[in-house]
This record gives sequence, C-alpha cells and structure tokens, in this order.
Amino acid sequence: MGKVLVTGGAGYIGSHTVIQLAHAGLEVAVLDNLSNSSRGVIARLEELTGKTIQFIHADVRDRDALRAVFSENAYEAVIHFAGLKAVSESQNEPLKYFDNNVSGSIVLFEEMMNADISKLIFSSSATVYGDPGCVCYAETTPLKPINVYGQTKLMVEDILRDIKWANPQWQIALLRYFNPVGAHESGRIGESPFGTPNNLMPFISQVAVGKREKLMVYGNDYPTPDGTGLRDYIHVDDLAAGHLAALNALSKDNSLITVNLGTGKPNSVLEMISAFEKASGVTIPYEIIGRRSGDLPEYYADAHLAKKILNWEAKLGIDRMCADTWRWQKNNPNGYCDQ
Ligand code: NAD
Ligand code: UD1
Repeated sequence: MGKVLVTGGAGYIGSHTVIQLAHAGLEVAVLDNLSNSSRGVIARLEELTGKTIQFIHADVRDRDALRAVFSENAYEAVIHFAGLKAVSESQNEPLKYFDNNVSGSIVLFEEMMNADISKLIFSSSATVYGDPGCVCYAETTPLKPINVYGQTKLMVEDILRDIKWANPQWQIALLRYFNPVGAHESGRIGESPFGTPNNLMPFISQVAVGKREKLMVYGNDYPTPDGTGLRDYIHVDDLAAGHLAALNALSKDNSLITVNLGTGKPNSVLEMISAFEKASGVTIPYEIIGRRSGDLPEYYADAHLAKKILNWEAKLGIDRMCADTWRWQKNNPNGYCDQ
C-alpha cells in the first residue's frame, strides 16, 4: 500500500488513525483546515510515530488546493474525516453543514476522480439511522436521520453509493461510528473540543480536571435500568483500528463496504460517571436536569458485520476508555491550546 491522504487528520479520530497507519508502515499525509483542531497535533503525531507526517493546511472545498495536492503526490487511498459534527449547530446553521460536509465531499471526490484515485474510507455516523424504533442498529436498519448533521452524512453515503454504481472500480468503505471516546494511551493526543463540550465524555473529564463545576445529566426518567441514556461508547483506538481493517478489506473485496463500528454494548450516563470516578480517583459532581431535545433513550450497534467482513471487533472496555481520557485530560488540561 502506498501513500494515504487523511482529510481531517488533525482532528480527534483522524489523529488516532494517523498513528496506526504510520505504525502499519504507511506513508501518511494530513489535509486539514484546522477549523476544529490545532497545528500542534502534527508535531505530537511525529513524536509518537517517529515519522514525518506531511501536513497540508487546506480546505476540502478548495478545488485548486486539492488539484495541486493530487498532482504533486501519488496517493493510493483517501480517508475522509474532514467535516463538521455538532448536531445543534447543524440545526441552527444548516447551510454551513451542507456546504462543509456535502459540497466539500463532492469537490474531494471529483478531484480524486480526476487524479485517478479510487480507494476511499468515509466517516459516517450512527446518526444516519435517526430514530428507527429499535435500539440495536444493524446496517440494514432503515436510514432516516432526524437532524441536519445526520442528513449530511446520509447524503454523502448516497453520493458514494451512486459513484460506486457508476464506477465499479471504486473501492469504498462507509464506516458508521457509534460514540467515540478515550484517547491514545501515551496521553499525548486526545479529544480537545473548542468551547463547551457537547458530548458526555469530554464534559466529564473537564469537570474532573476542575475546568467545569458539575455535569448536567440530561434526564433520569428514560425507560432504561437506571433511567439515564444508554449509548455504545467505543475507544477511539479501536475505532482507528477499524479504519486499518477497512483498508485491508478494500484491497481484497471489490464490493462497497458499509459497517457499524461500535462495541455492541450499551452503557448508561451514570455508569460512565462511575467508571470515570474509578479511573481518576476524582468525584464527579452532577445534577440531573431535563432531557436534551433530540436525545434517544438508548441505541447501540449490532457489531457482527464488522467482525465478519473486516475481521475487526472492539477490544477496549469503559474502564480503559476512562483511564485513557483521564491521562490525556490531566496532562493537557487545556488540550493543545497550551502550545
Ligand atoms: P474533529 O472535529 O475532531 O475532526 C474533524 C477535522 O476535520 C478537524 O480537524 C477539522 O479542522 C477538519 N475539517 C472540518 N472541515 C474541514 C474542511 N472543510 N476542510 C478541511 N478540514 C476540515 O471530529 P472527529 O470527532 O475527529 O470526527 C471525524 C469525522 O467523524 C467527522 O466527519 C465526524 O462527522 C465523524 N463522526 C464523528 C463522531 C464523533 O462522535 N466524534 C461520530 C460519528 C462520526
Ligand atoms: C451525540 C449526537 C449524535 C453524535 C454523537 C457522537 C445529539 C442529539 N446527538 O449523540 O448525533 O453522533 O453525539 O458525537 O447531539 N449527556 C449528558 N450530559 C452531557 C452530555 C451528554 O447527560 O453534558 C448524555 C446524553 O443525554 C446521552 C449520553 O450522555 O444520553 C451521550 O451523549 P453524547 O456524548 O452527546 O452522545 P449522543 O447523545 O449519543
């Protein structure tokens, strides 16, 4: 396998994937506009991998920049993480999301086509399922996103299904992530959200490190064993390994791959708080407040297909997810912003 271009590779999941690609002996280049990440990530990736990581500061919507990148380098595959991911922002600013996530992907795919690059992994999301009326999502579950962010992911999936139909030589994997958490075990890279975190794990860890007073738990009256929401949390390193497995599978199989990447095991908000307290030795103050609009009581992956076709399954449990998140947060209380 030759060189891989990782769009959004300075971000949370992309950066963890870059480490594993480099460890697997692949030459990696990162293309990122740094809209939700920091330049300092690249130095840490080089430190952790002992390799030079080419960094291209560019936007995937910038056709000229992509054309230059593809004409100067021979890439065998693209892993496309670049995109915006905040659900509430997507509801308030839909055009920003359609432009970034959908138009950006179209420009990228067109320029890949012009450069004759036909191997692609796309970051999709469990959000494409919406609220299907079941709690365990198989890949065959109908797709009906309930927010703009999820709609942008479904639109890009649809575009890729049509590209594959028209260009059978394209090798495409659509990976539907569940709830990525955790950090690299070195404590050198992790999730570093700008502003107030939307998601549970970064919020808990910022409370633990003293940056926020307490966690607001969004509802304890759900029909779940302890009343709080159940989610399929997956360690970001397991998720990163899923991308490597997908790259390998694409080399052997010419069909379009669509798989869930999750553990298949749901955990509640209270279970995550308690696992984090155990891992950190810090008590997490919390207050139960009303439900967050748009939240579902429970969902998790049917993870069997990924095991079958990628020979991949998640290995790390919530204790490890919390321990690694804590190491990262404690060592980098302000994320990459201290650099
Ligand atoms: P992230 O924000 O940490 O990483 C995304 C990266 O893409 C950032 O570095 C950002 O600067 C970059 N980027 C955004 N728009 C860009 C553009 N137009 N051009 C170039 N770079 C751009 O997010 P993440 O958590 O690492 O997510 C990566 C991908 O996985 C995203 O597509 C996201 O929608 C998807 N995803 C994430 C989750 C999650 O919970 N984190 C779940 C499901 C799917
Ligand atoms: C959210 C997004 C989803 C996205 C996913 C992963 C919404 C409605 N959904 O899902 O599209 O794919 O993130 O990025 O935003 N919780 C609290 N307090 C908090 C934060 C969260 O109690 O401060 C609870 C939530 O109610 C939920 C659980 O923790 O039960 C997980 O929340 P979160 O991390 O935001 O993930 P999702 O809700 O699954």
